[in-house]
Amino acid sequence: EPEEEISVTFVDKDGDEKLIKVPVGMSMLEAAHENDIELEGMNFLMLIKYRACEASLACSTCHVIVMDMEYYNKLEDPTDEENDMLDLAFGLTETSRLGCQVIAKPELDGVQLAIPSATRNFAVDGYVPKPH
Ligand code: FES
Repeated sequence: EPEEEISVTFVDKDGDEKLIKVPVGMSMLEAAHENDIELEGMNFLMLIKYRACEASLACSTCHVIVMDMEYYNKLEDPTDEENDMLDLAFGLTETSRLGCQVIAKPELDGVQLAIPSATRNFAVDGYVPKPH
């Protein structure tokens, strides 16, 4: 039987969209990697932190913004550890999550994830959540 997959759209800071298929059970961080999508923090310093982190909530390079509150509400609540790490993320928003903690599940089919800019001051300037 084929593996169940969902559709996920990553939207970069220029508004360019990339629609990918993500197997249920895979994290959005892994999915981004497999599809050559660069997340926010992949500059040199963050890359070092990221290598040490390995999705263990020790960096915030995998920050993504869930573009629709409806989908955001379908996610498990973030743990305290995730919230602590999110506080350090550039361009934090109300619907920010760490991509390594967002696991594909059928209810998330169609979700859109915005990738914040790596530049702190301009993090989510001009970012307007799209109504679904
Ligand atoms: Fe480090 Fe997600 S990969 S917190």
